[in-house]
Amino acid sequence: MTDHRTLIRNATVVLPGQTSRTSVLIEGPRIVALDAAVHTAADEVVDATGMHLLPGLIDDQVHFRQPGLTHKEDLAHATRACAKGGVTTFLEMPNTVPAATSQARLQEKLALAAEHSLVNYGFYIGATPRNLDQLKQATRTPGIKIFIGSSTGDLLVDQQEALERIFAETRLPIAAHCEDETTVRANQQRFAGVSDVAVHSKIRDHQAACIATQRAFDLARRHQHRFHLLHVSTGDETELLADAEPWITAEVCPHHLLFNIQDYPRLGSLIQVNPAVKTPEDNRRLWQGLQRGRLQVVATDHAPHTWEEKQRPYPRSPSGLPSVENSLALMLDQMLRGQCTLEQVVHWMCEAPARVWDIVDKGFIREGYDADLVLVDLNRRQQVRNEHQLTKCGWSPWHGTELRGWPVRTWVRGQSVYQAGRIDTRGRGGEAVFDHARGGYWATG
Ligand code: DOR
Repeated sequence: MTDHRTLIRNATVVLPGQTSRTSVLIEGPRIVALDAAVHTAADEVVDATGMHLLPGLIDDQVHFRQPGLTHKEDLAHATRACAKGGVTTFLEMPNTVPAATSQARLQEKLALAAEHSLVNYGFYIGATPRNLDQLKQATRTPGIKIFIGSSTGDLLVDQQEALERIFAETRLPIAAHCEDETTVRANQQRFAGVSDVAVHSKIRDHQAACIATQRAFDLARRHQHRFHLLHVSTGDETELLADAEPWITAEVCPHHLLFNIQDYPRLGSLIQVNPAVKTPEDNRRLWQGLQRGRLQVVATDHAPHTWEEKQRPYPRSPSGLPSVENSLALMLDQMLRGQCTLEQVVHWMCEAPARVWDIVDKGFIREGYDADLVLVDLNRRQQVRNEHQLTKCGWSPWHGTELRGWPVRTWVRGQSVYQAGRIDTRGRGGEAVFDHARGGYWATG
């Protein structure tokens, strides 16, 4: 049987280094030609006049809750949400139940994804104070996740000696959640009994973020270890990043760019996240950090909890919010408001994560690369509505917000998984391949 061929014609295509109106020919799972002749034979011809074609998004921080927490989310729901949102590859965090802290657990998650995931996948291995041998030997993973500061679940490595050994003795890139545990606990005591959720930003404050980030940079620096700082929430951390070594990279999430403490009265615990949202000035400085290249990646930290769980009084309400199906639209909307360019959105959400994690053949529209693609309509205006969310938790903190610029079609390895509001659940994503010999973001172009 010959491979299915799709010819996408007349789209404005965001290519590495240039955006041009051209055609893209897909054969089987790959992009086989750019600028193919208009009469090229294909099984399907897509007239994409007026649309923009981007590489599929690579979301390098999600929590899809399977196994163990599937009342909040599961791979089937989450990856349909990805397909709708233009996310064609996700890298998932280890705080599932059981936690992914060994090669055996990683392989169980890979097997679950092979069965249930509509998009491509990869899974981090979680660090504990006692699993150094597993971290040293791990394969088929983007890297090691350390919670330097606890969040959802019980993964925490706070002891200096354990951190030193992980940075000294492992080779995989390290990504970390940085909020200083001592500071957070002291603040929790100080504000004990306060049930207004806005206090969350006083407990998980600027200092908590900056102390832990400084500590992680110090480790990465002394051990010359590749390091990726997850979900930066303060402007001050972007200053620390200005002097960071070339083996250090960082990520920011849409909720830290777009929400701040002034939103608590309106949204309450729906925007309770770790790290906590900060001030409008931090929003501004995070955008500036992206513009200045101190932050390289935009990813979601999609962390669903049920509506009922979120309604519990603080501090029993859990931290985290869902966003894989809206992240691209949120960023396109910002782009159309003049905050950045389309090429920057593609850099932050596709190219940079591919380079940070050394993902083979993804993140760019190039001949020979995987046909992970998203077609977007920059004129489409649509409201985010809870009742339209495909994530299992069924709500969004952006409910009622109108955004301009939406994905209209998504391909994963050449298979159409989303079109005109419909998910095609027949396909399955593939395991992302990580070639760490490439050396990460700063070593690749
Ligand atoms: O708010 C958060 N929720 N931040 C994290 O780092 C973890 C996440 C979760 O898993 O719920």
